[in-house]
Amino acid sequence: MKTPPSKTLDQLRSRRWFADAGMRGFAHRQRMQQQGVRREDVMDRPVVAIINTWSDLSPCHAHLRERAESVKRGILLAGGFPVELPAMSLGEVMVKPTTMLYRNFLAMEVEELLRSLPCDGAVILAGCDKTTPGTLMGAISMDIPTIFCPAGPMLNDRHVKGGVSRTVGAGTHTRIFWDEYQAGNIDAAEWQHLESRMTRAPGTCNTMGTASTMTGIVEALGLTLPGASSIPAMDSAHTRMATDCGERIVGMIWEDCKPSTLLSACSFHNATAVQMALGGSTNAAVHIIAMARRAGVPLTLDDLDAIGRKVPVLANLFPSGDRLMEDFYYAGGLPALMQQIRPHLALDAMTVNGRSIGDNIASAEVLDAQVIRPLDNPVTDAGALAVLRGNLAPEGAVIKPSAASKNLLRHSGKALVFDNQPQMLAAMADPDLDCDANTVLVLRNAGPVGAPGMPEWGNLPIPKKLLKAGVRDMLRLSDARMSGTHYGTCVLHIAPESAVGGPLALVRTGDTITLDVAARSLHLDVSDDELARRRAAWSAPAQPFQRGFTWLYQQHVTQAHEGCDFDFLHGTQATPEPVIF
Ligand code: FES
Repeated sequence: MKTPPSKTLDQLRSRRWFADAGMRGFAHRQRMQQQGVRREDVMDRPVVAIINTWSDLSPCHAHLRERAESVKRGILLAGGFPVELPAMSLGEVMVKPTTMLYRNFLAMEVEELLRSLPCDGAVILAGCDKTTPGTLMGAISMDIPTIFCPAGPMLNDRHVKGGVSRTVGAGTHTRIFWDEYQAGNIDAAEWQHLESRMTRAPGTCNTMGTASTMTGIVEALGLTLPGASSIPAMDSAHTRMATDCGERIVGMIWEDCKPSTLLSACSFHNATAVQMALGGSTNAAVHIIAMARRAGVPLTLDDLDAIGRKVPVLANLFPSGDRLMEDFYYAGGLPALMQQIRPHLALDAMTVNGRSIGDNIASAEVLDAQVIRPLDNPVTDAGALAVLRGNLAPEGAVIKPSAASKNLLRHSGKALVFDNQPQMLAAMADPDLDCDANTVLVLRNAGPVGAPGMPEWGNLPIPKKLLKAGVRDMLRLSDARMSGTHYGTCVLHIAPESAVGGPLALVRTGDTITLDVAARSLHLDVSDDELARRRAAWSAPAQPFQRGFTWLYQQHVTQAHEGCDFDFLHGTQATPEPVIF
């Protein structure tokens, strides 16, 4: 379906740079010709930015240099002119202390790149966890036609031991095998062998971690081509999809199809329903709220909880299930999953291809019901996300029931409190640590301000002495996040965080904590009077960052329930176009 053009050549943004009859226009055209670009290439056609998050230290994006060439081909074939712009490459594993510290940095970079340069539209190449929300938050705020080209998941892998071949997935099995290694059940040779086997090809994590959760969410928002988020990175269909993105963005520019014309409360509702059906990462609770706020949609944790109660987990993928993203693709991918949750979707929400979500999924079908389940046979009755409140989390906390132990979803135990990550890690190795399987492990000062950057420390390791005794899960609490590839009974994103004086700062070892997921409650069994006494004696931890980006981050980051965006980047207020002189 073609939408008639709503923009003329003279209305292109890039014309302000290249069609100017004065000295500035001369300089802009001159400098393009310096690179061998013909005058008419930038004068007579849309200029399309390819925002590329490739780097040598982002293995999930190792193929994005090549994909940029495919996008360029599509742009040229459709009559546009491509320009490739590198953006901060947040490889989840390599960037320290955490990529989350830099998500907003990337968002600012993308917004300002697009604003300061002669771009009529953008194709975004990204996919590793924070690169997706980071690039899109910037593009939503800049609000020029944008299409998202997901990096795609890596291929499946298997580990053979004792003649038995077993599916292994990135992230999820790292922790599983680490626990077995710590417990003495696998040896150093097997551990080293696993290092070379668990991530065998470029692409994002092949489990339903944060990367696949976020790219699925972006597809549900209507910002990718249909089915794009499920295509494995190393499939030739991925290369063709990249070319399609390049071709389509040129049409979007002529149609003036911008994020603001696509994104609405309905599209964020769809995205949240997809997160739940995927059994998606808890990280999405932060990112989807941040993206919605950039689009002017007041999405809250309570909205997520309400949808989470209705939409069960249908994708049988690690860590909630036992398959991987390549299986999901063969089973029909995201369009097939969306077809299964059709009653929960706003089908008339529009997408980048000029058609509605309903039209895009009309012919989708499930090809393997073991991988994509029907609504009446979900992977688990436990939802992908529950929002907890109580005197320990007045502004909310989240848990992923589908990746937790059922017997711990209602649990009371004595707290064992750690003030920081090094203290906690040292204690876990202590053979005499005073704890048992009922203990509630608590980590604080791990939130947006406290850590800083809210790292994925929320999946606290099980104490080594309990691992040896066969314990594999415990109730764990923190103001940190957890990797989407991880599992366990972990209460996360406790808000307000301890470093700004949230009640988590007042917990003491030996206090009783009660979790009741069905009742959505998290309670610290300490009287209000005693909490007031502890608060009077509390002081904020010293912060060593007195300059630079981390200082800026700590001054302006919002709490988890608000999306952890910078307070000065919220909203849809127009930022003036740059003056060209
Ligand atoms: Fe990049 Fe998991 S480390 S997606």
